[in-house]
Amino acid sequence: MAEIKRVKTYIQGLDKVMGGGIPEGHVVMLAGEPGTFKSSIAFNMMYHNVKNENHIACYITLEQGRESLIQQMDEMGMDLESVGNDLSIVDLALIRKNLEKLGQQSWMQIFKTYANNLKENIDYSILCIDSMPVLTMLAEFTHPRSELFHFFEWLREMKITCLILSEMSASSDTYAQLGEDFLSDGIIHLKMEKVSDVNIQRRIRVVKMRSTEHSPDFFTLLYGKGGFTATRVISE
Ligand SMILES: Nc1ncnc2c1ncn2[C@@H]1O[C@H](COP(=O)(O)OP(=O)(O)OP(=O)(O)O)[C@@H](O)[C@H]1O
Ligand SMILES: [Mg+2]
Repeated sequence: MAEIKRVKTYIQGLDKVMGGGIPEGHVVMLAGEPGTFKSSIAFNMMYHNVKNENHIACYITLEQGRESLIQQMDEMGMDLESVGNDLSIVDLALIRKNLEKLGQQSWMQIFKTYANNLKENIDYSILCIDSMPVLTMLAEFTHPRSELFHFFEWLREMKITCLILSEMSASSDTYAQLGEDFLSDGIIHLKMEKVSDVNIQRRIRVVKMRSTEHSPDFFTLLYGKGGFTATRVISE
């Protein structure tokens, strides 16, 4: 059997856990509470894959504005000029207001048309959708489960590696509202863990990753000069 090609997450330690990274062509959810680095991890992964692995990436934001995202990534040490147009940031939040009045089906249709046109133009190999709850809210599905199923099929037909970001509430272990967790090929969960009265640590774990033997354990997630690192949690 041919070896599966993998896309590195560029989180040191985590790629090893997954046998090198996310299998190419997978649709993977990054799910976590606010501020758990969902956007940063996705962006950082795309940035380094464009820079070092000849990938072309497209980040579709429906939530955080383009300028705010660019500023944040710049502050985190990513030099966006060095990747140029090979990492496109598309701000659909901007046109969201105008699209809302077009109605439900057409919004999803417009989203797909956008993504398809970009695929034809720049032929991206990695796509990020930030975020899935906003996309489904705008889509106003009448039959959520079957429409989402078709959306995932459409994503898979694009033959790209796809990251979909999903917001979770701190008090819940539900990764997704409409069954996206079952439709996804992989789930990476990010959370804040209270380690004492005053200390909170960021944690990351691979909940599932099809075609991959991986540890389901939580790791401590750190961000520093060398980028993201996942290390074993030292339990007392
Ligand atoms: N320059 C920086 N260096 C290190 N950490 C930073 C830097 N800038 C922001 N952060 C941290 O990153 C967090 C936000 O990360 P990010 O936006 O990726 O999270 P998110 O999970 O996408 O959040 P949201 O739910 O708001 O979309 C901030 O709360 C802050 O703690
Ligand atoms: Mg975010």
